[in-house]
Amino acid sequence: MRVSTFLVKAVACIGALGIWFSVNAAGPGSASQAAQPDAGKFSKVSEMVRDKCMACHTRDYDLPFYASIPGIKQIIEKDYKDGLRALDLREEFGEKAAGKPVSEASIAKMEWVTVNETMPPAKFTAVHWGARVTAKDREAILDWVKTARAAHYPQPLSVEARRNEPVQPLPDALPVSPAKVDLGKKLFNDKRLSVDDTLSCAGCHDLQKAGTDNRRFAEGVRAQFGDINAPSVFNAVFNLSQFWNGRAADLAEQVGGPPFNPIEMGSKDWKQVIDKLSKDEELTRAFAAVYPDGWTGDNIMNAVAEYEKTFITPNSRFDKWLKGDNGALTADELIGYQRFVAYRCSSCHVGVSLGGKSYEYMDLKKDYFADRGNPLGSDAGRKDFTGKEEDLHKFKVPNLRNIELTWPYLHDGTVTTLRDAVRIMGTYLSGMDIPQADNARIVAFLRTLTGEYLGKKTGGQPVAE
Ligand code: HEC
Ligand code: HEC
Ligand code: HEC
Repeated sequence: MRVSTFLVKAVACIGALGIWFSVNAAGPGSASQAAQPDAGKFSKVSEMVRDKCMACHTRDYDLPFYASIPGIKQIIEKDYKDGLRALDLREEFGEKAAGKPVSEASIAKMEWVTVNETMPPAKFTAVHWGARVTAKDREAILDWVKTARAAHYPQPLSVEARRNEPVQPLPDALPVSPAKVDLGKKLFNDKRLSVDDTLSCAGCHDLQKAGTDNRRFAEGVRAQFGDINAPSVFNAVFNLSQFWNGRAADLAEQVGGPPFNPIEMGSKDWKQVIDKLSKDEELTRAFAAVYPDGWTGDNIMNAVAEYEKTFITPNSRFDKWLKGDNGALTADELIGYQRFVAYRCSSCHVGVSLGGKSYEYMDLKKDYFADRGNPLGSDAGRKDFTGKEEDLHKFKVPNLRNIELTWPYLHDGTVTTLRDAVRIMGTYLSGMDIPQADNARIVAFLRTLTGEYLGKKTGGQPVAE
């Protein structure tokens, strides 16, 4: 039974690859053109990826005719589903992606499977020899990884030998307008943004608590609680979108959320807030000096977002190591980083802030939600925003900067130690059991990610374990 299932599965996949290839060989103008990888992006590896990878990693892909046979259908569908959940090449090479650089998360994922030689799955290549990734293919992919990654860092900050690490140093600062930052800072700390003048942004994003509130769920006006953990505002500027489910496109759009959330700041609309702010003559004068059209919701959002661009925490010990200071890490911490890469963590926790670059399933390798129990509304993740079933349980990857200070962890705020966070990630996201000794080293590495805000160590209370 096992062998025949296996063969059927293999044959189905070969058929699938063949059909994919012939459909795509149809040429310009064919309906499937959107699925063609962008040649510029993928240069020499494009053909190999198209032949050997796309079939199992592309949405809207036509299943072969025999896929409708009962029994076979489920098997094929499972491979497509699992492959797609792990990596959607359409997002990177479909028509929507044209002209955009490949995301750092996809680059890191391609690198990991290439270095570890896990793709295509062995059960598949064992039968279909031609689909194997050859040594030459691997070399080409790794070459491409290096080039594609470098494209994200036109002015690299790391020392030459560490430039191809999946994690890169934070910049010291981003260009900002100091006058807007000044106004944004006042507004971020202004309780008049809330309906009863009791709560400011800083009330839930305390810079002395690493930009969080260190509570499971945030407390809004009139002692109300939501069902999702407050992420840090530090380094949020590097996120591909804001909120756990990515419903705000950028920082400015995000500012328009909490003031009018009935269980957060509870105000009715900008008019209600501006009626209060405009009675403050000094602030109104300062505001009009920067924004000639005066108090508007858009201007307030713009000012607060400008201030948030200064929430960067460079100079962590790990950054110093990336920049060439070999003494910045202990031997154990360095091994911890290597394990972080080896256990696939850096496939998702990638880039300058170790996250914020992709949406991933919290139940990728195992059903986290069934194991945890006590369902929450917030568990829906990105589906809540897009309405798409395929986005159920998908979350924007949180960034890991200052992680020892930003407890408790996960969108549900259930995890109170780094040890547990690492264990859970191994089980549900990486699909690997992490022995205790490696877990401890990874935790040691994670503690090297605490940086500095305005030249001083990021404020906050380190998590116990
Ligand atoms: C026969 C279908 C199939 C083919 C062909 C295939 N994959 Fe996969 N891929 C999967 C499945 C299924 C998974 C989910 C993980 C698993 O079950 O091992 C996956 C997972 C991945 C992941 C995420 C890492 C992980 O293990 O979760 C990456 C990256 C990836 N594949 C890249 C590739 C690349 C690159 C190629 C071409 C060289 C390729 N795949 C070819 C089915 C396939
Ligand atoms: C009642 C507590 C509370 C207040 C007040 C509050 N926030 Fe938040 N903030 C949260 C929670 C909870 C989330 C996560 C919500 C979600 O993802 O659905 C969040 C998310 C964010 C994020 C997204 C970070 C990321 O990584 O996605 C930013 C940025 C942010 N808040 C900034 C602000 C600003 C600016 C204000 C003031 C206008 C503010 N917050 C007021 C609790 C609060
Ligand atoms: C497939 C992508 C993926 C992989 C692999 C992965 N993570 Fe995560 N990580 C996530 C996502 C998504 C979350 C948030 C999930 C949630 O809250 O529901 C997260 C959350 C975390 C958190 C908590 C952050 C916070 O602020 O709440 C830590 C710590 C963490 N991961 C570390 C790791 C480590 C260590 C590894 C490797 C053992 C790892 N992750 C592997 C995607 C991934």
